[in-house]
Amino acid sequence: MSVAVQLEHASVRLGGRAVWSDVDLTIEEGEFVAILGPNGAGKSTLLKALLGVVPLSHGAASVFGRPVRRGSPDIGYLPQRRRFDPDLRIRAVDLVRLGLDGNRWGLSLPSPARRRRVGEMIELVGASRYQERPVGELSGGEQQRILIAQALVSGARMLALDEPLESLDLNNQQAISQLVRSFCRTQGVTVLLVAHDVNPILPFIDRVVYVAGGHVLAGRPRDVIRTETLTKLYEAPVEVLQTTDGRLVVVGQYEPVSHHANSH
Ligand SMILES: Nc1ncnc2c1ncn2[C@@H]1O[C@H](COP(=O)(O)OP(=O)(O)O)[C@@H](O)[C@H]1O
Ligand SMILES: [Mg+2]
Repeated sequence: MSVAVQLEHASVRLGGRAVWSDVDLTIEEGEFVAILGPNGAGKSTLLKALLGVVPLSHGAASVFGRPVRRGSPDIGYLPQRRRFDPDLRIRAVDLVRLGLDGNRWGLSLPSPARRRRVGEMIELVGASRYQERPVGELSGGEQQRILIAQALVSGARMLALDEPLESLDLNNQQAISQLVRSFCRTQGVTVLLVAHDVNPILPFIDRVVYVAGGHVLAGRPRDVIRTETLTKLYEAPVEVLQTTDGRLVVVGQYEPVSHHANSH
């Protein structure tokens, strides 16, 4: 299996302050990775560092064996908190097609092959039913599926999804997580997904990456998601329980304890 992401002694400084420092991280190709941690800890910054949008102040970052570079077609990116104006008239299917067009508006009519690919991705995310509707009219969960289809359609080897489950109900969070896992399994796509709550996604992920207090801690869920580890990480009481059927459940005040005085 090849390496999708590698960080070596990586540090990022923003606004004259270290966000995180001396991070070593390896992610294998095809893994479904959850990026977790308090608000303001640097999760979005981690994705942006891999996209080459935020420079490292120290260390090295590579994606699929090559140094990170901005605009790489290897990574499909879904930024945090993307909302559509309710009045936005663009149809869902056209929004997905933009993923294929590299975000340029008004390209000429797509070839049958391109149209087929857009249709396949829409079907894959279960959005066929509402593909002709204006995105502004769709529910949060429906919009999210369309955005994931848009990220997928480009054929990127890796998806960087920043809080795609935010504001979705539990069923949708799980449905989308399941969908993402099946991409990883069937298409070998590597997925980095930033999430707020670990519980809905825990059954689906291969690896967790916690970003907190200027550090990054990564590993298999079973090794990292432990009462002592998370309590220390969040600097607040967190308890990890195991259900009778062996599932882990994280409970407690692991709501945003920001190390920086900011609320998002
Ligand atoms: N462009 C910027 N300039 C200065 N500070 C920034 C900038 N972008 C983010 N930050 C700060 O970096 C820290 C990490 O932010 P972010 O990666 O968005 O956190 P998270 O996604 O974990 O909530 C925060 O303290 C934030 O205020
Ligand atoms: Mg963020």
